Amino acid sequence: MKVSKFLSLVACVSAIGVAADVMAQARPEVLVKQRQAAMTLQGKYYAPIRAMAQGRAPYDAAVVARNAGYLDGLTRMAWDGFNPTTRDLKSGTLPAAYSDAAKFKESQDQLIADAAKLLLLTKGGDEAAIKGQILAMDKACSGCHEVFRERQ
Ligand code: HEC
Repeated sequence: MKVSKFLSLVACVSAIGVAADVMAQARPEVLVKQRQAAMTLQGKYYAPIRAMAQGRAPYDAAVVARNAGYLDGLTRMAWDGFNPTTRDLKSGTLPAAYSDAAKFKESQDQLIADAAKLLLLTKGGDEAAIKGQILAMDKACSGCHEVFRERQ
């Protein structure tokens, strides 16, 4: 076999491997667990900085900057777990997340944009602006929960 043919065969076989991996990850129960885990971590890194923005905890710029970095990633992670294949499983998600997918997506984009803006602000160090942005993010969380998450 020529080297080039061999290489394309290797590429092909590994592409099938990757596709199989992706499909293996797409089991609905796993998707629900993963999206809840992403949300849980959002809560873990958001709650302390909200307390700071609300004046309930002393402001710590280093923690805010670190958490803003984490949240910039975490706020992007849950969404591909809301696959229609998970629709009938028990979870905290209301059917509206699937029937009003456009609005659900809009709420996701709002949160992602808010987290990106917060990260940018933490590079500057304007404490009042940072606190304002943390509180703006709170609206993105609760705004979506009110419509798409079961009442706790
Ligand atoms: C675009 C909508 C949306 C946004 C924005 C959003 N959430 Fe959620 N959240 C949900 C939904 C839907 C669930 C229910 C998930 C499930 O059980 O399937 C949820 C569940 C949770 C949970 C419970 C997770 C678990 O273990 O069951 C926590 C904690 C949470 N969200 C925190 C947050 C925080 C903090 C923010 C803002 C930084 C946020 N969420 C932003 C839609 C959203």
